Amino acid sequence: MFQQPLPMEYTRLSPEETAERILRVRRCLGSNVMILGHHYQRDEIIRWADFRGDSLKLSQLAAQHPEAKYIVFCGVHFMAESADVLTTEEQVVILPNMSAGCSMADMANIRQVEEAWADMATATDTSRIIPITYVNSTAAIKAFVGRNGGACCTSSNAKQVIEWALERGDKLFFLPDQHLGRNTCAALGVDPADEMILWNPHEPFGGTTPEAVQSKKVILWKGHCSVHARFTGEQISEARAKYPDVQIIVHPECSLEVVQAADRYGSTEHILKVIRESPAGSVWGVGTEINMVSRLAREQPDKTIFCLDPVVCPCSTMYRVHPHYLLWVLENLEGGRVVNQVKVKPEVAAEARIALERMLAIC
Ligand code: 13P
Ligand code: SF4
Repeated sequence: MFQQPLPMEYTRLSPEETAERILRVRRCLGSNVMILGHHYQRDEIIRWADFRGDSLKLSQLAAQHPEAKYIVFCGVHFMAESADVLTTEEQVVILPNMSAGCSMADMANIRQVEEAWADMATATDTSRIIPITYVNSTAAIKAFVGRNGGACCTSSNAKQVIEWALERGDKLFFLPDQHLGRNTCAALGVDPADEMILWNPHEPFGGTTPEAVQSKKVILWKGHCSVHARFTGEQISEARAKYPDVQIIVHPECSLEVVQAADRYGSTEHILKVIRESPAGSVWGVGTEINMVSRLAREQPDKTIFCLDPVVCPCSTMYRVHPHYLLWVLENLEGGRVVNQVKVKPEVAAEARIALERMLAIC
């Protein structure tokens, strides 16, 4: 994912000049362009979004707006890929900064996944394993899942998708986020200690054994999100000691210990909805990315809303979408040039679409 350096004339612009120019070009481009903003984007980006949401909502919005010729996706690379797979041939998906990836998605590549599948085939009948990939994965992995009878999931529909998978096969191969897989399966009654194993792509045979692959129900890929790995049970205990009325809500990319110590968990959209619907005076300790938590706190001054992690840490890849990049892609569009198009190869897109559409049909 190569990002060419921005021309100097953009990098030198002040925040005010940048905002003025985005406003002007946005008006000029009109309904030809739809700007989508993930909840983790900074305020200076979110203010321009026609829609904001979690991964599922944004993928659905992209699919529901065929009239928008250009979709400027202010999020990370895997999200723009999903939007490209789900939109029409005529639509163009643009990621303002091509280096906005996802460290979790980078923890699984298609070669490693194919090798793992081949290893598992030496131990068991892989036609009885249903592969499920979190959307935080490359299009090639979504395609692998699509051609092997599986589906994608997001943090808001993982439960329904995993139930669907467990009805269809004897085993589940969940990638790349071990935590979303473990948390969701545990909530469905699968014992994390007795019925799940971890597949480490950097060790021979995943660091496990053929016997374990044969006997266990769930095989979790050893991937995680570095932002959500920062949340701990200790932070939750401290928040409860400081604010006796606090309610704790976390994202399911946090560890099992954190999710079990919290009062609630769910996708970014779920967190937003629950906090918005809570009465004035509520106190919330939140375990997710700081840009989103700070915005929730600013938008609802009648509540106490804080991030559980005192060393507030943004998702550094989401943060790469700076307003200068947004202005640059929009002004290029105005000049008739498409820069930073995210285009999945047709043969990969066809199989990835199967996995994404199965997910959309389940939920
Ligand atoms: P959501 O689908 O909940 O927005 O999660 C996406 C993500 O990357 C969270 O880290
Ligand atoms: Fe990826 Fe984590 Fe950032 Fe979400 S918060 S985009 S999982 S690195």
